Amino acid sequence: MSAHISVSRGLVGILVMLACLSCAQGRSLVERQRLEVHRHLKRLNKPAVKSIEKSPDGDIIDCVHVSHQPAFDHPFLKNHTVQMRPAFHPEGLYDENKVASAKEAKPMSQLWHQNGRCPQNTIPIRRTRKDDILRASSIKRYGKKRHRSTPNPLSVSVDPDLLNESGHQHAIAYVEGDKYYGAKATINVWEPKIQQPNEFSLSQLWILGGSFGEDLNSIEAGWQVSPDLYGDNNTRLFTYWTSDAYQATGCYNLLCSGFIQINSEIAMGASIYPLSGYGHSQYDISILVWKDPKEGNWWMQFGNDYVLGYWPAFLFSYLADSASMIEWGGEVVNSEPDGEHTSTQMGSGHFPEEGFGKASYFRNIQIVDGSNNLKAPKGVGTFTEQSNCYDVQNGNNGDWGTFFYYGGPGKSSNCP
Ligand SMILES: *[C@@H]1O[C@H](CO)[C@@H](O)[C@H](O)[C@H]1NC(C)=O
Ligand SMILES: *[C@@H]1O[C@H](CO)[C@@H](O)[C@H](O)[C@H]1NC(C)=O
Ligand SMILES: *[C@@H]1O[C@H](CO)[C@@H](O)[C@H](O)[C@H]1NC(C)=O
Repeated sequence: MSAHISVSRGLVGILVMLACLSCAQGRSLVERQRLEVHRHLKRLNKPAVKSIEKSPDGDIIDCVHVSHQPAFDHPFLKNHTVQMRPAFHPEGLYDENKVASAKEAKPMSQLWHQNGRCPQNTIPIRRTRKDDILRASSIKRYGKKRHRSTPNPLSVSVDPDLLNESGHQHAIAYVEGDKYYGAKATINVWEPKIQQPNEFSLSQLWILGGSFGEDLNSIEAGWQVSPDLYGDNNTRLFTYWTSDAYQATGCYNLLCSGFIQINSEIAMGASIYPLSGYGHSQYDISILVWKDPKEGNWWMQFGNDYVLGYWPAFLFSYLADSASMIEWGGEVVNSEPDGEHTSTQMGSGHFPEEGFGKASYFRNIQIVDGSNNLKAPKGVGTFTEQSNCYDVQNGNNGDWGTFFYYGGPGKSSNCP
């Protein structure tokens, strides 16, 4: 009896000791993570001249002096002189008589404008908060894509297995086989429903250089709904870049050093409004990305009025010269919750057949050619992994030039 008691006391003692060992380890792990998050936030959030705190979407916008933006953490940019305007613009610079946008278009804006603006010589940056980082799979991966996720229409003939890789699904139009120096599109804006926080739905253009191997160069811009990245279901303006197929380089928005912003009115990653409604008013944004033939930098313009800034040519290998492929369209992550196709929507969540006011569109898609002119693309192909889940249909007409409708509901009786 007494022997039994002492044995169990001994066991309890060992158990208590083990528990305390692991709790001390646990504490130091938590402490280390806290410090790491703190350091990361300090690196991302630069000292602000002014902060706009009460954006209706819960964002805080920091107005950071142009010369203090994240880009200048890059060792190659230590002595960089910011270019405050592009040396070349494919539509002609600051032309007061620019063609008015098509008749359905209405001006787009960002939600945070309702509570203030940033002063001259500053740029608006969406403040990253602790929760943003804690939602990421790891601190290091915050602001980066998880997988290689560029649709590769050419892989159809090469390796069909590649298509379903990592559960990303696309419905896109594309051109390849030439040298491209930019692309433009006017993109219908919606708020697709996302089934799982680890999924997203986006509509964007891709400027691609190199092969779909390990060194793919990509510049991407459009709108996205991404609960993991932003903590909500809002439709947000975003950019992405990588020079090694989403491995070590690149990130969304200004979440790493690379893109140099000059514009004080538009924040990357901020919510855009108004949004289109099914059978109601339609809204769209235009995005133009082009290569400045003089300096070689890749510039981006949002709408007709906002030249946002540029990606310096040295960030890239292939794109330091030109792009070899342009893609436009939608992408969703299908994480197959419950072993079935996700019900995350692409575009408006409706198929192309439904047409204007119901299905989402890209219109007036253009490329910048070897003479630095904006042109309708020739030989446009379309691609989708599973047209029964998300589809794409292209066309041509006077007002809309080259256009396509794309998207779908995801899971349905035809897409189990
Ligand atoms: C920046 O300028 C300093 C001083 O002129 C020079 O020593 C340094 O090498 C330059 N750094 C880069 C990355 O060009
Ligand atoms: C991708 O996966 C879906 C569902 O598993 C299948 O129906 C489809 O044929 C696949 N596509 C390709 C190109 O392998
Ligand atoms: C986002 O939408 C999903 C459903 O589509 C909902 O379950 C979730 O609570 C929403 N998240 C936020 C942060 O509003």
